[in-house]
Amino acid sequence: MQGLEEQILASWVVNAISWTRAVRRGEIRSRERVTNGAILEAIYEGAPRTLLDLGCGEGWLAHQCARQGIEVLGTDAVAELTAIAAESAPPGARFQTLTYQQIATGGLRERFDVEVANFSLLGDRSLDDLFQALPKLLAPGGCVLVQTLHPLLVCADHPHADGWREGSWAGSSPAFRAPAPWYFRTLESWMRLFHRHKLVVKEMREPLDPLSRQLSAGRPSDGGVPRPGPWPLRDGRPPHPRCSDRRAARAGR
Ligand SMILES: C[S@@+](CC[C@H](N)C(=O)[O-])C[C@H]1O[C@@H](n2cnc3c(N)ncnc32)[C@H](O)[C@@H]1O
Repeated sequence: MQGLEEQILASWVVNAISWTRAVRRGEIRSRERVTNGAILEAIYEGAPRTLLDLGCGEGWLAHQCARQGIEVLGTDAVAELTAIAAESAPPGARFQTLTYQQIATGGLRERFDVEVANFSLLGDRSLDDLFQALPKLLAPGGCVLVQTLHPLLVCADHPHADGWREGSWAGSSPAFRAPAPWYFRTLESWMRLFHRHKLVVKEMREPLDPLSRQLSAGRPSDGGVPRPGPWPLRDGRPPHPRCSDRRAARAGR
């Protein structure tokens, strides 16, 4: 029988095409209205030259950043997704099939100004492995950005404690299959994860829906919830906004 971490990867393998369609057709409303713009804005504020997009999926974020002149490497465990991402990639975006476990054991040698994980940190042990590697892959003054489910909005019917939760594709296209389990973390636990790996948490944001001014509920599998980063900056470089990028970010919200 597959372990829970393996089930996460197996689910993304079978859902690669449906996921690509959903993202590219703009079917996940909270992404279109809130979270895509929020993560782009956070990236652009740091004016990075290089970016590592961890769990990049079909590559939308890497593509957007490459179009802004950032050199991007997108990594994902699912070869079909990195192939799709590479197929339509603009100059400046590269993709590699790598699990977090492979990154943890030295699968990457480059350094990056920003490492971003947009709704792609779904496991337990795999995150500890990955976070061990992240500081070594950061350029001096670099930062790690994480966008993830808001722990106060999801699983309110469970005890507020770390643990595995059942996945669901409820509300998504019926083409999605085999929902993966995912690991719920309290905010405290997110903080501990960063601290354990010598990452200083400099900022947290809770992006809101511009119309309702609320955090919207969503599903762990689709990144449907605007949630707090932790947005930790390591060796804290102050935010350094670039006007053209900020405009692009605002347009995406
Ligand atoms: C919800 S999707 C997010 C994709 C992308 N970041 C985005 O914003 O659309 C989660 C992604 O994380 C990847 N992923 C999950 N666990 C992983 C692991 N252990 N190693 C590498 N990639 C992983 C999946 O393959 C999937 O593409």
